[in-house]
Amino acid sequence: MTSAIPVSQARISAIGTHVPERVLTNRDLERLVETSDEWIVQRTGIHERRIAANDEFTSDLCVKAVENLVERHQVRLADIDFVIVSTATPDAPFPSVASQVHHRLGLSRTAGAIDISAACAGFVHGLNMANALITSEQCRKVLVIGAETLSKITDYTDRTTCILFGDAAGAVLVEHDSKEPSFIRSVSTTDGSAGIHLYCSGIADRIGGKPILRNGKLVQNGREVFKIAVHTLVREIPPLLAEEGLTPGDLDLFVPHSANIRIIEAVCSRIGIPMEKVLFSATRYGNTSSASIPLALKDGMDAGKLKRGDLVLLSGFGGGFVHTSTLIRWTI
Ligand code: ACO
Repeated sequence: MTSAIPVSQARISAIGTHVPERVLTNRDLERLVETSDEWIVQRTGIHERRIAANDEFTSDLCVKAVENLVERHQVRLADIDFVIVSTATPDAPFPSVASQVHHRLGLSRTAGAIDISAACAGFVHGLNMANALITSEQCRKVLVIGAETLSKITDYTDRTTCILFGDAAGAVLVEHDSKEPSFIRSVSTTDGSAGIHLYCSGIADRIGGKPILRNGKLVQNGREVFKIAVHTLVREIPPLLAEEGLTPGDLDLFVPHSANIRIIEAVCSRIGIPMEKVLFSATRYGNTSSASIPLALKDGMDAGKLKRGDLVLLSGFGGGFVHTSTLIRWTI
């Protein structure tokens, strides 16, 4: 699905994040599995990640990210009329994390709450949904949160996955504004045949007809995920920009899901985006799935790299295999 959004009436107006206190470094991982700091940094760009406490869950990180947003931007939550949480690691299959967050933030009874499941593409899908709700005049203010406690589903005896993932949350506020909208154009793609390459088992014993490992932990065929991610972004990004009369060189910043620095380097070298234009959050936080893009945006803002008016491409991609790229004007 590709869509121009010429009449977007939604502006991203505030951002906040939260990461758990506990730091898990590559050196710590050397004590758990046969690996090395050098191997991890060279193959992934990751130095450390944050790990939630045993009694700390995705909803807890969400609430703290929104509290950080409120503190940074002095916004009121009373008139929020929808909360969307993207997560692959909800506290429970139901009730939704969004409904728990709604309760703990004391949002209005008439505000909607929904979790969405699109792995690492979920935050950008959530932004697109917020834009659609606002532009269609069903809502005025929508909270979009990407949050994960991936450590709860990570197998710390599997060196091919445990080095990658971390826990975090990021929240943005999207609100009605017809004068300075953020959203320009978006493309979403799906390849369900690749679902078997990255999954966490649930109640079924197969994916796409193929038997799976049922240990409730994240399972990944890293090489396949790497190839599909690079191929998908290289195929989809240039046409998306071309439909706006743009080339990759016109972007001020590229903020892909921070899965792995080598995926991003491969994409950037093929489509012609210099790495200096990339915001990447995995160096300090690992792959935080739904949270990685808001983490990169907030840190980019705080470092003075992301400025109001910048033309920014967000690209979420992950288990499914799902992908969505959205071109925005940064409006905070
Ligand atoms: N430390 C040391 N050696 C390791 C480790 C480790 N942590 N993990 C694997 N190896 C070994 C392998 O056993 C293999 O050894 P062998 O040649 O003796 O068999 C060797 O390193 C190479 O293994 P590969 O799997 O081919 O390593 P690769 O270069 O592909 O790197 C990695 C593995 C980092 C997982 C890579 O495939 C990758 O990044 N894939 C994408 C993962 C990703 O980003 N996933 C998330 C995307 S979507 C989402 O975020 C949900």
